[in-house]
Amino acid sequence: MEYLTFALAKGRLADKTMELLEQMGITCDEMKENSRKLIFTNEELKLKFFLAKASDVPTYVESGTADIGIVGKDTLLEEGRNLYEVLDLKMGKCRFAVAGYKEIQDKLDNSMDLVVATKYPNIAKEYFYQKKHQTIEIVKLHGSVELAPIVGLSDVIVDIVETGSTLKANGLEVLADICPVSARVVVNRVSMKLEHKRIAEIIEGLKKLAGEKQ
Ligand code: PRP
Repeated sequence: MEYLTFALAKGRLADKTMELLEQMGITCDEMKENSRKLIFTNEELKLKFFLAKASDVPTYVESGTADIGIVGKDTLLEEGRNLYEVLDLKMGKCRFAVAGYKEIQDKLDNSMDLVVATKYPNIAKEYFYQKKHQTIEIVKLHGSVELAPIVGLSDVIVDIVETGSTLKANGLEVLADICPVSARVVVNRVSMKLEHKRIAEIIEGLKKLAGEKQ
């Protein structure tokens, strides 16, 4: 039997995913050791697990180096890869929003020359160009995006809002909602055919557990 390979987004999402898989009898004790190791194997079940940076998970799954990926919808939207999105795990829930100072709301609604700072340029473009038909300038940042409107680098940000506490602590507000985000299971298109039975079984198990979460 070939190995079935999972690419997991390193961090809290990978930990939560392993908890779900454990409930289905899929375990990987080695992963609990918190080492710097990035690949783990369950020889008995012929499974492999990669711990990848979230934004790289779609790349592993699209290339077929991983059969199944577990990653946030934010990453899937931004990366736009050719994958089967098979399941919403209903965890890691947050949303995409446009945020900034309240005073900028008018400019946001009417202006054609808005500067938008974001870690997610494709999502920002999709929202402003396709949905709002607004021309904007994008400033790509890699983190702590909330800084940008405060120091005058941008008018607004497009970012993930979970509890809202980062915005609040920095005097910023949600000015427009873009879309909800949660963790998704994605599958490589070829693996879906070649390993259909094994993959379908795993998806079914995860589906039941995700359903219980609602
Ligand atoms: C994310 C996001 C916001 C924050 C939202 O950043 O970019 O800054 O979390 O969460 P909250 O609404 O619960 O405050 P992350 O912690 O991933 O760090 P980063 O800014 O360095 O990317």
